Amino acid sequence: MSDEILSLIYTFSKKFSDPETNLSFDPKNQNISAVVKDGNVNISLLVKGQKEDLYLNIVRLLKNNVEQISGILSVNVIINSDVESTKTNNRDNRRFKIDAKNIVAIASGKGGVGKSTFSVNLATALSLLDLKIGLLDADIYGPSIPRMMGISKKPIMNENKKLIPLENYGIKLMSIGFILDSEAPTIWRGPMVMKALEQMFNGVEWGELDYLLIDLPPGTGDAQLTLAQSSKLSGSIVISTPQDVALTDARKGINMFKKVNVDILGIVENMSYFICNNCNQKHYIFSKDGVKKEAEESKIPFLGEIPIDTNLRIQSDNGIPALIDNPDGEISKKFISIAKNLKKSLD
Ligand SMILES: Nc1ncnc2c1ncn2[C@@H]1O[C@H](COP(=O)(O)OP(=O)(O)OP(=O)(O)O)[C@@H](O)[C@H]1O
Ligand SMILES: [Mg+2]
Repeated sequence: MSDEILSLIYTFSKKFSDPETNLSFDPKNQNISAVVKDGNVNISLLVKGQKEDLYLNIVRLLKNNVEQISGILSVNVIINSDVESTKTNNRDNRRFKIDAKNIVAIASGKGGVGKSTFSVNLATALSLLDLKIGLLDADIYGPSIPRMMGISKKPIMNENKKLIPLENYGIKLMSIGFILDSEAPTIWRGPMVMKALEQMFNGVEWGELDYLLIDLPPGTGDAQLTLAQSSKLSGSIVISTPQDVALTDARKGINMFKKVNVDILGIVENMSYFICNNCNQKHYIFSKDGVKKEAEESKIPFLGEIPIDTNLRIQSDNGIPALIDNPDGEISKKFISIAKNLKKSLD
C-alpha cells in the first residue's frame, strides 16, 4: 500500500524540476526523498546552500497535489540545506555531546526494510561481545525500539535534571518517542527535531559507552542532517532489502551521508532470502544479491546478509532480541558476524 502511494507521489513530483540542477524530481533524483508511514507522508528536498526561496512554490504545489491522494492523513514537505556541513567540520566542537567511543547511525532510504530490528539485534550482538552499548531510537515518524526491547516504562529524571536511560538485556535505551508529542510527529520542523535530538544527547545520563547506536528515521530528512552536523558520528550503516526500489532509496541515503562527510561503515542486506520449511531451498523473494552488487559498485563494505525469518519477526513483536531468545541460532550468528565486522572496521 505505501509503495503504491510512493509511486503516486513520484508521478506528481516528477512534473517539477529542481530550479538549481534542472533535473526532474523523479524517484532517481538524489535530492528528493519520500517516506510514507501510516498514511502520513514526509517529503524532503535536499538543496545546496541557502537557496530555500527558490523551492517554496514547488513545496506548496507538491503538498497540494499529494494531499489529494486518497488515504493520506498528512503531508509534510521540508527543505533541507546542507550548508552547515562545511561550517561544522571540526568534529570535536559539535553541540551534541556524549561519552561514547563510537557513535553509529543506522539508516535506510526506504521505510520498513528492517532498520529497527537490525538496530536492536546489532546492539545485543555488540553487548554480547562485552561492550557497553547505548541504543537511541531517533525515529521521529514512529519510534518502535522500546517495544522491540521489551520496555514499556518511561524514563525518569535524576537530580541533575537528566533522563536516566531505561535498560534491558544489558543495553541502555532512550527513545525520542518518550519526549515528543505523539499527536504531531509528522509536522515537526527543523528546530524542534534539533531540540529533541539534542536532549537525547546532552539531556540523558548515558554514562560511559563503547557504542551508541542510533536508529534513524527512514529517508534523508532533518534528523539525519542534524545528527550528521551536530554530533561526532563515527559513521553510518545503511540497511536495504535487495530489490530495486529499496536500493534506489538506499543510494540516496548513501549520497546524503557522503555530502555531509559522514563515513559509510557498510551496507547490510536484510530479507535476502527465505528458507522454505518444506523444500529447504533458499527463495530470493526480493531478488538476489542486490545489495552486495550495490556495495561493490559504490565501493562500500558489505557487512552481511540477513534472511527473512519468521522467528525474527515474532521475537521483535514480543520484545526479545533474537540473540537473547536463541543465541546459537543461524540469525544470531549472522548478527554476531556483522558486529565483529563493524568492530574490526572501527578499532
Ligand atoms: N529479516 C527479517 N525477517 C522477518 N521479519 C523481519 C525481518 N526484518 C524485519 N522484519 C519485520 O519487518 C517489519 C519491519 O521491520 P522494522 O520495523 O525493523 O523496519 P524499519 O525499517 O525500522 O521500519 P520503519 O521504517 O517503519 O521504522 C517488522 O515487523 C519486523 O519484525
Ligand atoms: Mg523502525
